[in-house]
Formats: sequence, C-alpha cells, structure tokens
Amino acid sequence: MTVSKIKVALAGVGNCASALIQGLQYYCKCEKEEESTGLRFLYLGGLHPKDVQIVAAFDIDNRKVGKDLSEAIFAAPNNAPKIIEVSPSGFMVHKGPVMDGVGEYTKNVIQISNQPEENVSETLRETGAELLLNLLPSGAMEASKWYAEQALNANCAFVNATPAFIASDAAWCKRFEEAELPIVGDDLKDQVGATTLHKTLLKLLSMNGVRITETYQLDVGGGAESLDTLERTRDVKRTVKTRSVEASLPYKAEIVAGSMDYVDFLENRRDSYFWIRGLYFCKAPMQIDLKLSTVDAPNAGSVLFDVIRAVKIALDRKLKGAILPICVYAFKNPPQMVSLEVAEEMFADFVEEKT
Ligand SMILES: NC(=O)c1ccc[n+]([C@@H]2O[C@H](COP(=O)([O-])OP(=O)(O)OC[C@H]3O[C@@H](n4cnc5c(N)ncnc54)[C@H](O)[C@@H]3O)[C@@H](O)[C@H]2O)c1
Repeated sequence: MTVSKIKVALAGVGNCASALIQGLQYYCKCEKEEESTGLRFLYLGGLHPKDVQIVAAFDIDNRKVGKDLSEAIFAAPNNAPKIIEVSPSGFMVHKGPVMDGVGEYTKNVIQISNQPEENVSETLRETGAELLLNLLPSGAMEASKWYAEQALNANCAFVNATPAFIASDAAWCKRFEEAELPIVGDDLKDQVGATTLHKTLLKLLSMNGVRITETYQLDVGGGAESLDTLERTRDVKRTVKTRSVEASLPYKAEIVAGSMDYVDFLENRRDSYFWIRGLYFCKAPMQIDLKLSTVDAPNAGSVLFDVIRAVKIALDRKLKGAILPICVYAFKNPPQMVSLEVAEEMFADFVEEKT
C-alpha cells in the first residue's frame, strides 16, 4: 500500500531542524526495528519516517535564507553534529518576518538576511503543507504566535515545540477547534529528558519511603538556544520545569529545576546536573549527585517523528483543537498535566484508535 506523504513546513532552520532532517535521511531506508537504533517507533500508526516530507522552511539568517534546505541546516550558527550527507530538498529556505526572533544575546550570533519577506501563509498553501512545525528560538514568543496565525490562515495543523504558551492557551485551542484543525504543544520533551529523569528518580525514591528534602537540576549548554534562554526564557523554563518536577512528589520539598547557563565551547552539547537530598530509615541521610551529558538537537528527533506522525493521524481522523494524548506524551507544558504513565497510556490508546 502506498501512503501519501505527510507534508511538513518548518518555522526556524536551527539545530533542531538540522537533527530532524538528518534523521529523515538516516532512517528512511530502515525497514526493520533492529536497524533503527535511536528511534522509538520505526512505524507509528503504520507511518514510517520516510512518509514525512519537508515541503517548505522559513528562517531569517542570511546564511540560511535562499539556500537549499540541505545546505542551510549546516550553516552557522547551527552547531548540531553532522552525521550524514543530506540530499538536496529542491527548494530554498524562505525569509520570514524577524519580529522578536533575535534577542539582545543572540543579535551577534544571528545575521539578519536583507532578502524580501515571503508571504508565509501563501507559501504554506502553495506547497500543500498540512502541518507547520514551530522551531523558533524560545524567546520568540510573538513570532511563534504569528506563525500559529499563518497556520490558521493556510489551513495547517500547528506543532509548537517552543515554550511559548499556545497549545496550553484555551483561546488559541478554541481558534484551532473552530478552524477544524489540530494543535499540539507546548515545549517539546526530549528523548533523554533531564526533567523526565529527575521526576522518575524522585518518584522512585519517594515510592520507597524516602523523604526528599531538597533537590535541584541545572543545565549547561552551548547552542544558540541556550544563549537565547539565558537572556529571555530562563525564568519561564525554570517555572515550567520546577512545576512539572514538583508534581512527581506527593508532598512539598525544596525544588529548583531547569536553571540554565551558556558555555560556548560545549557547542550543541548539554550537561545536566542533578542533586537530591533526602532521609530514609530512622532519618538516615542519602544524597545523589549526578551528571547527564547529551547532544541537544538529536534529543528532539525521535519525539518529533512521533509528533509529526501522530498529528497526521489526527488530521486523517479529522480531529480538531488541542489533541491531548499527543500534547501530554510529547510536550512539557500540555494544556493539562498528567503523570508519565497516564501520558504513555493515552498516547498508545490514541494511536491504536481506542480514543
Ligand atoms: N532538544 C531540543 O533541541 C529541544 C527540545 C525541546 C524544545 N526545543 C525548542 O525548539 C526550538 C528550536 O531549538 P533549536 O535548538 O533548533 O534553536 P536554534 O536557535 O538553533 O534555531 C532557531 C532558528 O530560528 C531562526 N529564527 C529566529 N527568528 C525567526 C523568525 N522570526 N522566523 C523564522 N526563523 C527564525 C533562527 O535563525 C534559527 O535558525 C526552541 O524554542 C527550543 O526551546 C528544542
């Protein structure tokens, strides 16, 4: 049976986009699970990564705009590792409006293109895009909302990988519902996620009767996104992650999670530090001091493939508004918080068409 391609447009051709497009090339020929190390689902709802087709992309940097997408993903300031040669996409990256895409800390890193701005919603319509994937910097809150508006204008589903409050905002969900389009978000979960690891560790300890007294989790990264976070979204990210970690304990403890710093020589690598202190039998003290090292952009790849395919399922079923099973499975700030176990169950039921 031939499956029609899932036509995806990208807002932002940064490190995350680079990992996704390299992943497309990397996994497209895999037919067996044992060949697809690193991908959680080779097939999801019968859909394979090779069924995903990128049809348009928008950016603002002159090293990316006007270049074939296969070239743009390797242009500076992107520093995600190159793991594979990518075949030409056959289209050029379009210029989008800058708006708040560049912050005080990233203005020396991003070189704004002087090419004319494209009509984004018209391009989405012309290319037949079904889904617009928002991969703008986390500080680009207004530009992210503007791209959500373009998705509505062009009859596209919207995926918000950034922490801008869109899918978690009832007013936006209502607008997508009225337009009979799916929306999912906000803030993509990583495959090897520091927040998920932190929550799982705390849950395990507290389930075994340990009383957690204090814990923190700190991140250090070297991508452009870490630099932007430092200036504009450090507080939002810290609030979202702390709230999420707090929900894993049945009592109050001193918790700080998701604080960030920027170290340029780490490039696209990220070090996550975990520190946990608690009391167990007869108040004996315990302490965990842990470091997790990952590469940032590939950490989004597997989850993005799941989200894209799940949204295609939602489109085929003509579902509209916030698609909760996808939001809770793949995003840190969904419209409604549920436990990891419930999120997994909801997503599996959704894919198997039990919901
Ligand atoms: N593991 C991950 O990488 C991960 C996980 C969860 C969430 N996210 C989120 O995904 C988003 C992208 O992350 P990234 O590491 O690729 O960031 P990045 O900084 O590498 O890429 C952002 C891209 O957007 C472009 N841009 C800026 N303003 C624009 C505008 N107005 N229109 C079009 N393009 C514009 C930049 O030039 C850049 O190419 C961030 O919001 C991040 O928080 C990433």
